[in-house]
Formats: sequence, C-alpha cells, structure tokens
Amino acid sequence: MRDCDNNSGFSTRAIHHGYDPLSHGGALVPPVYQTATFAFPTVEYGAACFAGQEPGHFYSRISNPTLALLEQRMASLEGGEAGLALASGMGAITSTLWTLLRPGDELIVGRTLYGCTFAFLHHGIGEFGVKVQHVDLNDLQALRAAITPKTRMIYFESPANPNMQLVDIAAVVGVAREHSVQVVVDNTYCTPYLQRPLELGVDLVVHSATKYLSGHGDITAGLVVGRKALVDRIRLEGLKDMTGAVLSPHDASLLMRGIKTLALRMDRHCANAAQVAAFLEAQPQVELLHYPGLASFPQYALAQRQMRLPGGMLAFELKGGIEAGRRFMNALQLFSRAVSLGDAESLAQHPASMTHSSYTPQERAAHGISEGLVRLSVGLEDIEDLIADIEQALGA
Ligand SMILES: Cc1ncc(COP(=O)(O)O)c(C=O)c1O
Repeated sequence: MRDCDNNSGFSTRAIHHGYDPLSHGGALVPPVYQTATFAFPTVEYGAACFAGQEPGHFYSRISNPTLALLEQRMASLEGGEAGLALASGMGAITSTLWTLLRPGDELIVGRTLYGCTFAFLHHGIGEFGVKVQHVDLNDLQALRAAITPKTRMIYFESPANPNMQLVDIAAVVGVAREHSVQVVVDNTYCTPYLQRPLELGVDLVVHSATKYLSGHGDITAGLVVGRKALVDRIRLEGLKDMTGAVLSPHDASLLMRGIKTLALRMDRHCANAAQVAAFLEAQPQVELLHYPGLASFPQYALAQRQMRLPGGMLAFELKGGIEAGRRFMNALQLFSRAVSLGDAESLAQHPASMTHSSYTPQERAAHGISEGLVRLSVGLEDIEDLIADIEQALGA
C-alpha cells in the first residue's frame, strides 16, 4: 500500500489518497467502473448487501467504486469522516436538505445565497412545511433570538455568492452548539484548500464541484462531506429515494483529475484575483469593490483568520450602475460573459439578470445583491492579459 494517510500533505492526498496502483494491475490512474449494477455471487449475498450487512456495491445510484474513491479523497481533504458524490451542487444541497428536514422544522439561513439555493428554499422545501428564515449570521444576538425549539439547521455560504460577504464560521458553530442545531456550510467558493469548515465544528460541508474542484468547466458535480452518520442518511434517503442525483463514474474520474491540481490552481486563481482587485481599487470608475484580500474589505480580519487565501472571486459596481456594468461586460474580450466559476477561463456575469434572477428585485435589495453588481471569476490566464482586458473594457 502506498504511504499516504491523513498525515500526508494536501496535494499528496489530492493525488494519491485511497488508491494503490499495484492493487489494480498497475493502472496509475484509478479505473472507471462504468457499470450501473453489480452481480451477486448468491441471492443471500445480494440480500445482505441490501440489508447493509455486507459492504458490497449493488447499484450505482447508491454507490460505485469510482465514486467511492472520490468520496474518500474528498473526506480526507475536508477533514471529514465520510463523503458523498452527486450529480451537481444543487443535487448535493437538495439531497441534504430533503433528508435532514421535516415539515414543521425551522431552518435558519444566511442573508445572501446562490440564486438556485434561494429558489429551492423558498419555492421547494419552503412550500413543503419547512419554515425558512434569513438571518444576518454576523449578528449573534439576532441568531440567538431566531433559534426556537423547532430550529434544526443553520445553513450558509462564506463567502456568499455573489456579494462576497463572510460569516464567522466558528462563532456560528458556538451558538448552534448551545442549542444542538446542525450547521451546514456551502464551501464552493473556497474549496478545502482555502477553508475547512468541518475543522471549525460544522456538521456538513456541501459543494458545487462543478467549480474549482473540477476546475475545467467540463462537468457538473456536487459533494457532501461530514459526519458519517449524516452522510450515510443522505446517501440512503436523499440521494437514493428523493433526488436520484447520482454522479456518473466517468464524471467522477474527471473530477478526481481536477482535484489533483487543486492547490496549484487555487494559488494561481488567488494571486490573479488579488492583482485584479488591486487594479480595480485604483480605478476612478469603480464605485464599490468586494474582495476579501483587500485591507479595505470590511471583514478583512475575519478573512485573514478563516481563509488560507482570499479566493479567486470578486464583485464590484461601477459608477453609472447597471448601464455602466453592461457596457463594461459587453466590451470584455478575454473574459467570457458566462455564469459558473472556478474555471481556467476568466468569466464575467451579471448576478441580477443571471445567477440571482430567481430573486425578485425587492428580494435582491433585501438580501444585499445590488442591481449593478458585476461578478468576476478570475481564471488562470496571464495577469497582464487579464488586466489589459479589464482596462480596455473600463475605457468603453
Ligand atoms: C455557491 C454555490 N452553491 C451551489 C451551486 C450549485 O451548483 P451546481 O451548478 O453544480 O448545481 C452554485 C452554482 O453556481 C454555487 O455558486
């Protein structure tokens, strides 16, 4: 067995954890088990698999060896007991919430969330008897006041998509523990390379692995990592019976390929974003800029404490509001006008009309998403070319 356990470094585990080529005919890259079902030696053995008495795989909607390796590797990187791979970030989020919440339960969520998460809460689970309440989670008094005996879970993103607002994860966990409430964090923007909420005491982390984890914009995928008892329930209830949002073995293999270079890519995303932020901050056309790596960012101290590096995402507003923002985005030549994030390619999008169009204008105003906000996912290109593109687009 190759010498790689949870004490090895982050990239060593991202490349090797859980796999020994010599146990697989020498294949350096883990095989893709492209199969929907698994043969049983006897009927009795199959029945024991279904009853959970034998560990074997029996149907790929529930488990598959290629996904199992990915799940084990991600659990190691996040510092969790177990992982679960799903077909998309929304598959991960909805499978988790459908499993852990029941009609009559109360759910406290952060002020700003990704648009489809917001839509699921208010037009999905919220219409099935779960009470959803948005709270400014940096106001611990407000959080304490919002918790009732029916509160089951606190759910948030940090940084939040799209306005980059952070939540003090350890502080929220402290309050949640006083009331035995579960905490679930969407760690998509950071990945475990930049931030590990499980080490701060949260119960589960969810991811859109479509973004930085896969890193190449060629698959959709999701992950849940955390306490084994919870992950097992999400597999056997949320994934198996409720959403069926299973990841294909081929996409699991592509995702593992992406994760091998995660640390390298994140370092470069962060270095490029820091330079783009510094450039934008010096431009007279820029009205407001949200990037956790700037000393002027209101939560700079929290970012320094909680995140290894400030990330590759930023958001800003131009003087002249949405009209100026549209002119800027339409003039970009190297940045693509596209949603999603975390790809090698730099991307620019307009949250109010794209990723957060599931909020009404009034909801966007109430949840801190201004109409003129422009969101950038800073990619891996040469920084001089990125700055030149932004400079010429600002000139437009
Ligand atoms: C923070 C965050 N969470 C979840 C999702 C949903 O992920 P997916 O698109 O993989 O379903 C996204 C997608 O943009 C996201 O930005």
